[in-house]
Amino acid sequence: MSIIDADRVDEARSEAARSPRAEIDIVRTGPGTPGGRFLRRFWTAIHRSEDLAKGQAKPIRILCEDFTLYRGESGIARVIDQRCPHRGALLHLGWIEGEDIRCVYHGWKFDCTGQCVEQPAEEAGFARKVSLRTYPTREYLGQIFAYFGEGEPPPFPPYPGPQTEGFIDVWNPETVPCNYLQSFENTMDEVHVAFVHRPGGSHAKIFDLPIITAEETDWGMIRYGTRQNGKVRVTLHYAPSTVRVIVPPLVGMEWQGGWVEIFFNLTPIDDENHLWLVSAHVPLTGAMADAYRVKRAEYSRKVAATAPALQVALELIAGKHRYADVRHPDLAVVQDIATQAGQGRFTDRSKEHLGRSDAGIILWRKILTRELRAIAEGREPKRWTPAPASVVPVPGF
Ligand code: FES
Ligand SMILES: [Fe+2]
Repeated sequence: MSIIDADRVDEARSEAARSPRAEIDIVRTGPGTPGGRFLRRFWTAIHRSEDLAKGQAKPIRILCEDFTLYRGESGIARVIDQRCPHRGALLHLGWIEGEDIRCVYHGWKFDCTGQCVEQPAEEAGFARKVSLRTYPTREYLGQIFAYFGEGEPPPFPPYPGPQTEGFIDVWNPETVPCNYLQSFENTMDEVHVAFVHRPGGSHAKIFDLPIITAEETDWGMIRYGTRQNGKVRVTLHYAPSTVRVIVPPLVGMEWQGGWVEIFFNLTPIDDENHLWLVSAHVPLTGAMADAYRVKRAEYSRKVAATAPALQVALELIAGKHRYADVRHPDLAVVQDIATQAGQGRFTDRSKEHLGRSDAGIILWRKILTRELRAIAEGREPKRWTPAPASVVPVPGF
């Protein structure tokens, strides 16, 4: 087990400098790359459940590959190849028939195992020779997950759920125009909160500068932010790219009186774009929960009538607004996208000067480099195990 604290950052930093970083690319996620093979060993959050209706099909791009996502009439979400094996038509243009999908181009129909079962203009017997690839899918905490790796998928769910009463409120998905690792590293960088989120004051309860320490676990990394008053904010980073942390509620929801626990999945679309798929656990029941939902619906209407967070973030990056002046219903999201995507599609890690507050980032890069090197060299990587439900994040205020 690796532990990094402030005293060991220099040691870890020089160790990182000595390691042949150029040999291991920690940001690429395409098929066959060490990073892509690593990420494909886990369940991947791919889409917000409520955004896929029964009978609907969509094109999706995940981990630098294109697929078709559809929901059969029974309600089961399915992931299959992007294109029809006949002559390459896009399958999302086709028809959903029960659990099957029929290609729009010449009507070939594929069942939910991927087997071609009808070819209206062909001779009988040809269909059974044709199939497309399907991928295992499951749904959890309001998100659709898929498994893109070889062999049997790991246990599901990929991480434990909320341990207290309440309900799941799934936030708007965001598409962020930079490599996923920048955002995952940001979740390990608690010091940014005091600066990035100062305008608007969303994180006002924790504006002092914590001392960051981090520790590798059997399921990822646990990180501590020790505050000046001695309280400790505990954040869980589930391998390969999910963070579970207590954060302020959406703007306008503060009336509920508390912060919420979020399960924040950072999923590569390709190497230069990634998704934020966030499931928040709101610890309210009964009339309080009903009142929250009414307020949440108002909030959604307000967001729909406002410029998208990504657009405002890109305007900030382009210098069209003064950072401190921007206000938005999703202000923390705007602020985070502006800073993380503002690093560029790929931040140049060779030019960085990491300090003690980067202890979580340093440790995760060390773990990632070790795992990707094992995969690249054909050695068995670490066997990650499901996280115990008893390990939960702590707000630390
Ligand atoms: S391309 Fe799909 S049926 Fe011809
Ligand atoms: Fe942030």
